[in-house]
Amino acid sequence: MTSPFANRLGIEHPLIQAPMSGSTPPALVAAVSNAGGLGSLGAGYLEPQAILEQAAQIRALGARTFAISLFVLPDEFDADMVAVAKAREQLDALMASEGLDVRTSVPARWAPRFSDQFAALCEAQPAVASFAFGVISPAQLRELQLRDIYLIGTATTVAEARAWAEAGADAVCVQGAEAGGHRGTFLHQPEDAMIGLFALLPLAVRALSAGARDVPVIAAGSIMDGRGMLAAEILGAAASQLGTAFLTCPECSAAAAWKQDLLQTEEHQVTTIRSFSGRAARGLRNRFVEAMPEPAQGLPYPLLNALTAPLRRAAAAAGRGDLLSEWCGQAAGLVRPQPAAELVARLMHEYRLARRTLAS
Ligand SMILES: Cc1cc2nc3c(=O)[nH]c(=O)nc-3n(C[C@H](O)[C@H](O)[C@H](O)COP(=O)(O)O)c2cc1C
Repeated sequence: MTSPFANRLGIEHPLIQAPMSGSTPPALVAAVSNAGGLGSLGAGYLEPQAILEQAAQIRALGARTFAISLFVLPDEFDADMVAVAKAREQLDALMASEGLDVRTSVPARWAPRFSDQFAALCEAQPAVASFAFGVISPAQLRELQLRDIYLIGTATTVAEARAWAEAGADAVCVQGAEAGGHRGTFLHQPEDAMIGLFALLPLAVRALSAGARDVPVIAAGSIMDGRGMLAAEILGAAASQLGTAFLTCPECSAAAAWKQDLLQTEEHQVTTIRSFSGRAARGLRNRFVEAMPEPAQGLPYPLLNALTAPLRRAAAAAGRGDLLSEWCGQAAGLVRPQPAAELVARLMHEYRLARRTLAS
């Protein structure tokens, strides 16, 4: 199989393991890259030093070509401390009523500073950098180009895909509404940007092949097997980016209770949630979501995300999947727990089989 995208990056398969901040440790990233796909380190929540250390660990595990992914955010955030105090009361009361011995606290910083994370990414110099939640500046683009780092921007609408193409992205990853985790949306209200992948992908491919540059489009959103990869290719995708499919790999650091709950997921339980982080994300409707249907006191991202982080860590340690942000895509019911290298081989085998079946 020939893939201009894979050839450009020098990887064997047009298959990307999605960056999943908090759940893509070096062992997973390296296993996927060593198996011929593109492993991605979701570094959205990592401080600069941790980005450098984890990049070094990925390399120490033998991986040469991998991605580091960040959330494009301001460096500082204003906080309405009255709303923060009320949100803390609400969250602490919920934890107490659930018997979990953990309380919120105000963190020193609401999120790592994006400009410092970006500097660390440049220093780590991965083959690929990907970004969500916004577009990087022309100066940041130059920094990546100086280091020959391939740039992937995340879009949830055609307008966002165009914005990334105009900002100089080498490729755009379109995230369909089916996708697990946070919505990458940055130009619209999240509810206006819930476009299914089968609609978004061909629209984006048409838009991005019509401009001065033909920008490859990567497909993300509930692609769980080789058939899905072929379907995405038929609709014009240069590569497929899979997140949920890798969540049940032993190398993935998602909590055991979360992995267990994914095995029993039915699609009607997968919904859009803002109550863990203040930003729309797709995951399982569980006890926390039922008890807290809206963000506490309307707190935005990343404030609410920072407040709930220790609660989610405690819930994971206590085996309480029902109080965790159990992110997943709509097709989570198709997960297949197995080592990442085996999953990559299986996906590519299925892809080739589906291709042959279609051709015959
Ligand atoms: C647990 C989880 C965490 C995620 N974190 C990130 C992230 O840090 N950065 C990012 O660009 N996308 C993130 N995503 C979204 C993925 O890049 C991708 O769009 C999504 O996984 C595709 O849908 P699927 O999960 O159904 O395969 C995350 C997805 C999941 C499931």
